[in-house]
Amino acid sequence: MNQDAIGVLDSGVGGLTVAKEVMRQLPKETIYYFGDTLRCPYGPRSADEVKSFVHEIVSYLMQFSLKAILIACNTGTAAALQSIKDGWDIPVLGVIEPGARAAIKVSRKKKIAVIGTQGTIQSRAYEKMLKSIHPELQIYSLACPEFVPLVEKGLYHTPEAKRVVEKTLAPLTKLDIDTLILGCTHYPLLQHFISQTMGDQVNIISSAEETAAELSSILYHRNLLSKQYGKKHRFFATGSQYLFQQIAEEWLGENVEVERVDL
Ligand code: DGL
Repeated sequence: MNQDAIGVLDSGVGGLTVAKEVMRQLPKETIYYFGDTLRCPYGPRSADEVKSFVHEIVSYLMQFSLKAILIACNTGTAAALQSIKDGWDIPVLGVIEPGARAAIKVSRKKKIAVIGTQGTIQSRAYEKMLKSIHPELQIYSLACPEFVPLVEKGLYHTPEAKRVVEKTLAPLTKLDIDTLILGCTHYPLLQHFISQTMGDQVNIISSAEETAAELSSILYHRNLLSKQYGKKHRFFATGSQYLFQQIAEEWLGENVEVERVDL
């Protein structure tokens, strides 16, 4: 059981930002990562459709021995976290609660903005989570539908990406916020442009660190931490292996073999 893998899933490469942090904080663990690149982006899809995709992916991953599932996708977390928790008997984590907690920890003014996909913003999942922890917060939300396609195409370093980030975030730069939550796991790949646009006075928060810390504590308390270095990580993608591999290798800084899967 302790040597079983942790299943990590996203619509594409975004969840690698969380997987990387899990690898850093829990280097003995093995990750089986699933990127549904063929059906990405999830953001513009209905909550019911995203939920059914997440269920398909989890069913696929559960053919392997898994000791935990991490939905490293905010849109997927908003749509399916509860039903995946209800359906499987192993720890299941999402990224919204950890992201909300991380933001509350650093915000002094208690004025926080959240950016995410249309699905995540429409679900109001961050607003509800933040308010349930701290009812006095002032929260601003903004959907950024152009960000995920830029990242999936590997264009996150380009002048075009910089222009899109500046244009999209312009309304937020006029607000008196001190914290911005990257409420989509793809957005840390655009973090250099996002930080430049928002300026030094705004804390940029992604869920990765806090989520990995939560996973670590759950595995510890259930006596599920791996005792020795595990097997090789595996990467599954439903779409092009080539782009996924390029982005994964650049982001993780290691060789990645991608297995193509038809769901
Ligand atoms: N990375 C995902 C998220 O955190 C999904 C992006 C998308 O497919 O639209 O929401």
